[in-house]
Amino acid sequence: MGSLSLFLFISLSWILFLPYTHQLQTSQTEILLQIRKHLEFPSSLEVMNTFDGDLCNVSPSRNMTIACQDNVVTELIIKGDKPVNFRGFNGFPIPNQTLSERFSMDSFVTTLSRLSSLRVLGLISLGIWGPLPDKIHRLSSLEFLDLSSNFIYGQIPPKISTMVQLYSLVLDGNFFNDTIPDWIDSLTNLTFLSLKSNRLKGQFPSSLCKIRTLADVYLSHNEISGELPDLSTLANLHVLDMRENKLNSVLPVMPKGLVTLLLSKNALSGEIPKHFGHMDQLQHLDLSSNRLTGPPPPFLFNLPNITYLNLSSNMMSGTLENPLSCSTKLGDVDISDNKLTGTLPSCLGSSSDKRMVKFGGNCFATDFQHQHEASFCAESLAGTGKSRRKEKLLIVAFISGAIIVIVLLALGVFFLYRRLCKRTVQEQPPKVVQENSPAAVPSELLANARFISQAMKLGAQTVPVCRSFSFQELKEATKDFDKSMLLGEGSIGKLYKGKLENGTIVAIRCLALSKKYSVQNLKVRLDVLSKLHHPYLVGLFGHCMEGDGHDNLSVNQVLLVYEYLSNGNYRTLLSETYPEKVLKWSDRLTILIGVAKAIHFLHTGVIPGSFNNGLKTNNILLDEHRIPKLSDYGTSIITEETERHETKGEGTKSSNRKNLVENDVYNFGYILLESLVGPIVTGKEETFLLNDMASFGSTDGRRRIVDPVVLTTSSQESLSRVISITKKCISTDVACRPSFEDVLWNLQYAAQVQASADAEQKSDSTS
Ligand SMILES: *[C@@H]1O[C@H](CO)[C@@H](O)[C@H](O)[C@H]1NC(C)=O
Ligand SMILES: *[C@@H]1O[C@H](CO)[C@@H](O)[C@H](O)[C@H]1NC(C)=O
Ligand SMILES: *[C@@H]1O[C@H](CO)[C@@H](O)[C@H](O)[C@H]1NC(C)=O
Ligand SMILES: *[C@@H]1O[C@H](CO)[C@@H](O)[C@H](O)[C@H]1NC(C)=O
Ligand SMILES: *[C@@H]1O[C@H](CO)[C@@H](O)[C@H](O)[C@H]1NC(C)=O
Ligand SMILES: *[C@@H]1O[C@H](CO)[C@@H](O)[C@H](O)[C@H]1NC(C)=O
Repeated sequence: MGSLSLFLFISLSWILFLPYTHQLQTSQTEILLQIRKHLEFPSSLEVMNTFDGDLCNVSPSRNMTIACQDNVVTELIIKGDKPVNFRGFNGFPIPNQTLSERFSMDSFVTTLSRLSSLRVLGLISLGIWGPLPDKIHRLSSLEFLDLSSNFIYGQIPPKISTMVQLYSLVLDGNFFNDTIPDWIDSLTNLTFLSLKSNRLKGQFPSSLCKIRTLADVYLSHNEISGELPDLSTLANLHVLDMRENKLNSVLPVMPKGLVTLLLSKNALSGEIPKHFGHMDQLQHLDLSSNRLTGPPPPFLFNLPNITYLNLSSNMMSGTLENPLSCSTKLGDVDISDNKLTGTLPSCLGSSSDKRMVKFGGNCFATDFQHQHEASFCAESLAGTGKSRRKEKLLIVAFISGAIIVIVLLALGVFFLYRRLCKRTVQEQPPKVVQENSPAAVPSELLANARFISQAMKLGAQTVPVCRSFSFQELKEATKDFDKSMLLGEGSIGKLYKGKLENGTIVAIRCLALSKKYSVQNLKVRLDVLSKLHHPYLVGLFGHCMEGDGHDNLSVNQVLLVYEYLSNGNYRTLLSETYPEKVLKWSDRLTILIGVAKAIHFLHTGVIPGSFNNGLKTNNILLDEHRIPKLSDYGTSIITEETERHETKGEGTKSSNRKNLVENDVYNFGYILLESLVGPIVTGKEETFLLNDMASFGSTDGRRRIVDPVVLTTSSQESLSRVISITKKCISTDVACRPSFEDVLWNLQYAAQVQASADAEQKSDSTS
C-alpha cells in the first residue's frame, strides 16, 4: 500500500512539474531584445525582427538557439559573422571588426545576467570587446559557457570560480592577457576547458591538477611559460593540448589514460621519461620543436595504441634501438631534424601505405641525400660533456659583447624615439599566429559539442575512446570486404562484420559520401560523432577515412567501426513466437524507454544535436542481456552537407531542422506501433496506417490488431497510454506531434503503471 501511495505521489509530482512550454515571460523577452540591441542587431538575430510569437518557439539554426523551460530561457547561443581575423587588437574598437565604441561590456553583462536560469550560453564571433566583468558569475546555473572568437581582454574574472555548475568553459580566440587564475580548481565539475589562442601568460596553473573531472584541456597558442607540473592526478584526462607556448621544464608525469598529448613548439628539455612507456591509451604524441635530448626511447614506437608520433626538430642524439619493434597501429612517425646516427631500424625503414616515416635532417647511414655529415651530429654529442670550459669562455665574451651592444642600442633607441614621437604610433606589431582565425575552422562544431551532465557521468566510466583505423586494418578484418562478412546493406551503405587483429568482433559500416570532404572537415565531424556516448547507443570504436586518389586531402568514403552486438535486432525479436523468447509488454517498454533516452540524448545532449537518426526497429540491437542499443545514429553529422544548406535561405534551413526532429518523432512513433502490433510487412505501411489505425479506438478493434502477447501481458491503462502517444507521434499534422520529452515521459509513466499492475497481480496470485 505504502509503495502505491509513494508511486502516486511521484506520478503526481511528475505531472505537476512537466516541462510544458508556456508563453515566455515578457520580462525575459525584453531581455532578449535588449541583448540584441547591445549586440548591435547581428544578422543571426534577424528572425527576431519579424517573429512576433513566443521567442522560445523560434526554431534553432546554426547561428542561433533559444531554448526555454518553465517560461524562462535556459539556453542561448548566438553566432555572429565577426570572426577575429587579425591579432593587432589593443583594447580599442575597430570598425567592421568589433562592436562599435558605444558597446559597453559592463552593461551588456548586467543585462545578460538577468537571464538567471541560463544553463547554456554561447556568444561566438560577435565582435564583443572589453574586459569580462566579474558579474558574469551571477549566471550561477551556467553549465556551458562559450565566448570564443571575440575581442575580450584582461583577466579571466576570478568570480567565475563560483560558477560551480560549469562543466565546459570555452574562451578560445580572444585576447585574455593575464595569467590563468589559480582558483580554477573550485570548478569541481569542469570537464572541458579550452582557452586556445589567447595571450595568457604565467605558469601552468597547478590547481588544474585538482579537477579530477577534466577530460579535455586545450591551452595551445598562448604564452604560458615555466614548468609543466605533475599531471598524474587527472585520471580522466584524455586530451592535453599545450602547443605553441613557452613551457621550459622537463616532461612531467602524465596521466596514464591520456589519448592525445600535444606539446610541440615549446622549450621543453631533458629526455623522454620512462613512465611514458605506461601510457597505453596514447594515440597521438607530438613533442616536436622542443629541446628534448637523448635517444628516442624504443618503447614509444611500441605503445599499444600509438598511431602518430612526432619527435621532429628536437636535439635528440644517439642511435635508435635496432631491431626496433613498432606497434602495428603506428601510422605516422616523424623523427626528422634531430641528431640521430646509426642505421634506421627496419620497421621505420621504408614508408609504406601503412606507415609514413620522416627521418631527414639527421645523420643516419641511409638515404645520404637528406642526411647531414656524421660530424654534424657528433658535434653536439661532444658538446654535452666537454664544453664546460668553452661555455665559460663564451659567457665572458658574451657579457662584454652585450655591454657594447646595449650602449649602441640605447643610443639608437634614443634617436629613433625622437623621430617616432612626432608621428602617432598606434599599431602594435601583429602577433604571428600559426593557426588561422579559430572561427574560420569548422571546429566550432566541435568546440560546441556539449557534454551534458549525463554524458559526463558516463565519461567517468570506461567509455571506449574512438581511434582511427587504417584502411588496411579494416580490409584484413573483413577478409577484403568479402560477401560472407556482409551483414546488411541499407540506404546509407553496406555493413560488414569484422574481426580485428586482437580478436574483437566489430561491425563496420561503409558510408559512401556524396561529395568529397577535406580531411580536416571530416575529422571535425567524426570528432562530434565520437563524443556521443550513451549506454543505449552502440559504441563507436573508431573510423577510417578513405580517399580515392593519392592525395591525402580529400575523402570520399568513411568507415565507421562499431561494437558488435550478438543478440539480433528488435524487429526479429518482435516477430519471435517461441514462448521463452517472446517479449512481454513490460520488456518492450523497457527497450523502448532505453531507446527513447538515447534519442533524447542525441537531440539535446550535444550541440548541435543530431536529429536524423534513421530510426527503425532493425536499428535497435540487443546485447546478451537484452539491453537495447541504437545503431546507425548520427550519420547525418557525417553526411549532411552544411555548405549546401547554407546557401539556401535560412528559412528553409530552420524548417529542415524542425522536420528532422519531427522525423525522429514520427519514426519512433512507427517503432511504438510495431511494438504494439508486431512488425509490419515492408511496403504495407501506408495501407496499415490508412485502414487499421482506427481500430485502436474500440476494445474489439484493439483485440483484432494488437499483438496477442501484448494484450495478455499489459494493463489497460498502460496500453492506452502508449496507444495514445503512438497516435500523436505518427499524426499527419506535424504540429500535433509531441516533443521527445513528452514521448519519454509517457513511456516511463506507462512502465510505472505496468509495474504496479504486475506487482498487484503477483500478490493477488500468491495470497
Ligand atoms: C548564419 O551564418 C552564416 C555564416 O556566417 C551566414 O551566411 C548567414 O547569413 C547567417 N544567417 C543568419 C540568419 O544570420
Ligand atoms: C591586456 O591588454 C589590454 C588591452 O590591450 C591592456 O590595456 C592591458 O594592460 C593588458 N594587461 C596585461 C596584464 O597585459
Ligand atoms: C565597414 O563597413 C561598411 C559597410 O559595410 C563599409 O561601407 C566600410 O567601407 C567598411 N569600412 C572598412 C574600414 O572596412
Ligand atoms: C556536479 O555535477 C553533478 C551531476 O551533474 C551535480 O549533481 C552536482 O551538483 C555538480 N556539482 C556542483 C558543485 O555543482
Ligand atoms: C611534426 O611536427 C613538425 C613541427 O612541429 C611539423 O612541421 C611536421 O609536419 C610534423 N610531422 C608530421 C608527420 O606531421
Ligand atoms: C588500446 O589498446 C588496447 C589493447 O590493444 C585496447 O583494449 C584499448 O581499447 C585501446 N585503447 C584505445 C583508446 O583505443
